[in-house]
Amino acid sequence: MPDRPRLVIATGNAGKIGEYRELLANAGVELVAFDTEVDEAGETYSENARLKAEAALSKSGLPSLGDDSGLEVEALGGFPGLKSARLGPTQKERTAELLRRLQGVPRPWKARFVCVIALAVAGRDTRFFEGECRGEVVPEWRGEAGFGYDPIFLVPGTGKTFGEMPPEEKRRYSHRAAAARALLQSGALSELSASIDKRGR
Ligand code: IMP
Repeated sequence: MPDRPRLVIATGNAGKIGEYRELLANAGVELVAFDTEVDEAGETYSENARLKAEAALSKSGLPSLGDDSGLEVEALGGFPGLKSARLGPTQKERTAELLRRLQGVPRPWKARFVCVIALAVAGRDTRFFEGECRGEVVPEWRGEAGFGYDPIFLVPGTGKTFGEMPPEEKRRYSHRAAAARALLQSGALSELSASIDKRGR
């Protein structure tokens, strides 16, 4: 029985790590979390995802997955977007700051979550996979599940915020799940297993 190939997840965000462990549970890879602490200096989600994935690849020598994500509110011109992780020191404060900026703006506050995954493998061009989830920001904190802005993000047709959903339900709708599905469907992870098999390990 050959080893499963190791795949690094380049993040220190415990919420994301937990989600990837579930999303890629049947992908035939062994996930290893590793925070590269790279400066998110890119001007797009893809650039930031690439910076994280390629930094992890160069430090570990292992195939590496970087992701960048954010919440974009239509009435705020896509804000906070790339700045989603930087609106304040804690998520409570980030959420409060976003709601403060929305005060006086007529509802519904249409929004979307975006996620781009970059997969960096030695000797190959880095590949990208995207997902989005459309919904609405609500003014009150609802539920304690998930992470980040989950408790103020309402998913249309469900009557629930991500904060009110157990992980398996969030997985049906989330931007990260959609990006992970695109990654799985691309066959890129099966190629990693196949290359290990060929090396006879
Ligand atoms: P980054 O992808 O590490 O730059 O962080 C993106 C930020 O967007 C996170 O710290 C959260 O604040 C927010 N975010 C991204 N994905 C989610 C999600 O699934 N739920 C809630 N907030 C999210």
